[in-house]
This record gives sequence, C-alpha cells and structure tokens, in this order.
Amino acid sequence: MNSLNNHDRVFVLTGAGVSAESGLPTFRGMNGLWRGYRVEDVATPEAFSADPVLVWQFYSERRQRHQTVVPNPAHYALAELERKLGDGFFLCTQNVDSLHEQAGSRRVLHMHGRIMQSRCSNSRCDTAPFDDGNSYRTREEIPRCVACGALIRPHICWFGEVPFEMDLVLHQLGEATLVLVVGSSGVVEPAASFVRIARRGGARTVYVGPEVPANHGYFDEVLEGKAGEMLPSFVKLLLG
Ligand code: OAD
Repeated sequence: MNSLNNHDRVFVLTGAGVSAESGLPTFRGMNGLWRGYRVEDVATPEAFSADPVLVWQFYSERRQRHQTVVPNPAHYALAELERKLGDGFFLCTQNVDSLHEQAGSRRVLHMHGRIMQSRCSNSRCDTAPFDDGNSYRTREEIPRCVACGALIRPHICWFGEVPFEMDLVLHQLGEATLVLVVGSSGVVEPAASFVRIARRGGARTVYVGPEVPANHGYFDEVLEGKAGEMLPSFVKLLLG
C-alpha cells in the first residue's frame, strides 16, 4: 500500500470489531443471542410494538455497558488520520457507541444510530432525537413523547428499517479513492455492499480484522489482525 497523496479521499467504514478491544462484544461474538433471544427478535419495530419493556431492557443493559468503556488504539489511529486529512476523510460507523468521538473523531456518521440517544416511536411525529443515557426496565419507566404521547424508543436503526443518511454515504463513496473497512463481518446490508460500490468507482479497497470477511472478494487487500494492533502502523504508512 502506497502512502496517500493530496488528491486522495479516504472513506472508512467501521463495524463492531473496532470496539472489540474496548470490551464491547461483537454481534457474531455473542452468537447473536441475548438472554436466549435472537438479537433480530429484540431489534425490530415489531418487537417494540409487541413488548417495549423487553426491547428497552435489552438497550438499557447495553447503555450501562457503554458507559464503562474507553477507546482503543484503533479509534485513536482513525482520529489521527482525520486530523491530518481534514475534509479528505469520512468515517461511517455501524456502531452505536461513541468511542470514535471519545477518541477525537469529529466527522462521524452513525448509520445505525446511537445508543445514548432516544426518539419518539411515532414516525409521523417531528420531535428530534435527543441525548438519553437512562435505563428503562418497566412499562411505567418508559417515557412518552411530550408532543404526541407515543412511547419513546432507542434511536437505533432496527432490522427492516433504513439506515440513516444513506444519500450522504453514497455521495462520499462516490468521491472516495481509498475505502478502508475495519472489523465488520460483511454480511449485513447495505453496509456490506459499500466496498463493491466504491470499487466499481475505482477506489482502492482494504480490510482490517482478524477474520476474512464474507465480502472479501471486493477487497484489494485483507490485513489480518486486530484493529488496535494493525491500525496505528497502517495509518502511519498511509500518512507517509
Ligand atoms: P459483526 O459482529 O457481524 O462482525 C464483527 C467483525 O469484527 C467480525 O468479522 C470479526 O472478525 C471482527 N473482529 C473481532 N475482533 C476484532 C478486532 N479486535 N479488530 C478488528 N476486527 C475484529 O459486526 P458488524 O459487521 O459490525 O446492526 O455487524 C453489522 C451490523 O449487524 C451491526 O451494526 C448490527 C448487527 O445486526 C444493527 O444493529 C442494525
């Protein structure tokens, strides 16, 4: 891999693996299960309609866990790359944690939402998402929207919902000359297709993670190893 030049634009996509060394389990790592439920059964609009208490218990546990973790060298390396590249850098994360921001990243798009935010569950209500680190474990504890009275839900993109700001993501992919994917199994769409889209547009494509991802055929290079161990030296290489 050559170092970057002034014309390069770097698009980074991170998945659960970038936060693994901070102590947050990956989805595949927890076998997709929580208390015997499949994650897909507690992360859908249908699950929230049927049993909002169960869904909030799941996210409340995750909120508490997220309050105890700190960034690892992978998050810091990406923040350093952003500092050097400025507008030539774009970070899209599938993660709902705030570890990129805690490490100093500024241009972060959370395509699957943010664990520490909530919003109104009524899609026709225009109350904006808001910061919320609270836990809700009973029906009485779950707040209602002050504008329309509907239940408040986590600001998370659930299965069957469209990820946030896809127009901006597709625009940035079209501009990218290098796409770097870190710690994502490459099975969940639409993120799994970003590398294919960028490659069709002529971008170089690199994956960093301990296992070869499902979409490995679209990468020019797969660097096998843990993100926290690989990214600091890879970023140095890019910066020349
Ligand atoms: P996965 O759990 O599917 O994959 C995590 C990836 O991280 C795996 O490929 C691991 O090999 C890799 N990994 C593990 N430890 C690592 C380390 N130290 N450094 C680098 N990589 C490591 O997570 P995602 O691909 O992010 O969606 O999953 C995508 C989406 O599926 C999630 O955002 C979530 C889930 O359903 C929603 O919640 C909407």
